[in-house]
Amino acid sequence: MEWMWNIFSHPLWAFCALVLGLVMWAQRRRLWEPRACHVELKGKTAIVTGANTGIGKFVALDFARRGARVILACRSEARGSAAMREIRQRSGNEDVHLRLVDTSSLTSVREFADRILKEEKQLHILVNNAGASGLPTQITSDGLEVSFATNHVGPFLLTNLLLDLMKRSAPARIVTVSSASHWRGAVDFSHFHGDNLTYLVARVYSHTKLYNIICTNELARRLQGTGTSSRGQDVMTEQKEWVA
Ligand SMILES: NC(=O)c1ccc[n+]([C@@H]2O[C@H](COP(=O)([O-])OP(=O)(O)OC[C@H]3O[C@@H](n4cnc5c(N)ncnc54)[C@H](OP(=O)(O)O)[C@@H]3O)[C@@H](O)[C@H]2O)c1
Repeated sequence: MEWMWNIFSHPLWAFCALVLGLVMWAQRRRLWEPRACHVELKGKTAIVTGANTGIGKFVALDFARRGARVILACRSEARGSAAMREIRQRSGNEDVHLRLVDTSSLTSVREFADRILKEEKQLHILVNNAGASGLPTQITSDGLEVSFATNHVGPFLLTNLLLDLMKRSAPARIVTVSSASHWRGAVDFSHFHGDNLTYLVARVYSHTKLYNIICTNELARRLQGTGTSSRGQDVMTEQKEWVA
């Protein structure tokens, strides 16, 4: 037992504990308190993809509470309807609607955008939130690897199809939800078709989230001066800014 005592009483442990404490302090996150933000969204129309659960549902609920017309863009009628009923009930806002879209299918994205362009006179907020990690290897009917189709290509197409409407509705904002794991991603266009991919440790997901960041930054650059802004949010660090 003495050898254990000798190991664990070594000053290196105290040093490591101090370093760990400092790292945790530096990375501490302040709680996000939506009620501290008093922005009203009456008269604004918002689309949130993947709004039937998780972050998307919370964002849609928050928009509804602020008085926006909210369109829940979900792939499942059953899950989307349940979320719509819950958001209407919790926010007291009946102007919450469900429209179906599967972001992994270019056809579905085009149909969704067509309907929005026919039905909506204005669009002020688009939150590209729908996303998935750890999807099994699959090539979609568009010839795209399914994670790339879902997390990047579908949202990219959707953004571009709705862009003119958003510019006409300025001030407007496009938010694309990325991930802190984008730093592990790499750019290789062969990935889009499922080639040269390693499926270990969510690498594919990281690649898709890196494309979110790159394309959103470029869009932000191109939109300068139009009154429409584009942001790629790393949900781990910048949730607070969603309702700016
Ligand atoms: N949670 C985190 O810690 C974290 C960290 C970094 C980044 N993010 C990002 O934040 C976003 C939301 O994450 P979350 O944690 O809230 O995830 P979640 O709870 O799994 O919700 C994901 C949402 O996206 C929808 N979705 C997935 N594939 C879709 C498709 N092909 N077409 C349409 N909708 C689809 C899901 O619909 P179904 O219910 O029908 O599956 C669901 O509504 C994602 O983009 C994710 O990458 C999350």
